[in-house]
Amino acid sequence: MGKLHVFDHPLIQHKVSMMRMKETVTKDFRELANEISLLMAYEVTRDLPLESREIETPICKTKANFVAGRSIGVVPILRAGLGMVDGILTLVPNAKVGHIGLYRDPETHMPVEYYCKLPVDAQDRTIIVVDPMLATGGSAVAAIDFIKQRGCKDIKLMNLLAAPEGVKTVMDAHPDVDIYVAALDEKLNDHAYIVPGLGDAGDRLFGTK
Ligand code: PRP
Ligand code: URA
Repeated sequence: MGKLHVFDHPLIQHKVSMMRMKETVTKDFRELANEISLLMAYEVTRDLPLESREIETPICKTKANFVAGRSIGVVPILRAGLGMVDGILTLVPNAKVGHIGLYRDPETHMPVEYYCKLPVDAQDRTIIVVDPMLATGGSAVAAIDFIKQRGCKDIKLMNLLAAPEGVKTVMDAHPDVDIYVAALDEKLNDHAYIVPGLGDAGDRLFGTK
């Protein structure tokens, strides 16, 4: 069974609380999403494979550890997932970035795919799927389905906020995928929005409402 990692770091909690506040403006909301993503990426990448290479320090030759070549692919679920990419790339600048376009049908709440482009060697990488919100879990399950269909086996899911319903749905559908969330919220409301949540992540990131 996949593991749920909830971050209890004070800096992450503080920044999540600021994102929740309705008076937080687009610019600050976007910066906070990236800052939290960077902090989370530190932990999400904890078990990355290392390779040993010989180097020379000013003192002597030695063997030193480096993150192995084709290690990471970051895959944001469009569009709100885009708000987490730069933070991760600040920490892992050599990561490749794929994109999956999904939106939730407002009536059925079911995900509809409109775009998918992954790195050519995605199957050799640890894929970190990013999306600020894990609500019903429908979008995340569909995105992970598509990524698995392209041969990827090592997949992690990273969200800022999650509802218990979404966590369960992903764990049931993809028990091999670990989930990393900055905060685990209480429930979903009748419109499948996370409570207390932060509202519509895409609209708040891009200022579209
Ligand atoms: C939001 C969010 C997730 C999805 C979560 O995207 O960014 O992708 O909803 O909901 P779920 O867990 O119930 O599937 P939305 O469909 O609003 O699209 P957007 O990113 O383009 O705003
Ligand atoms: N998508 C969002 O942007 N917010 C929610 O609370 C649920 C889905």
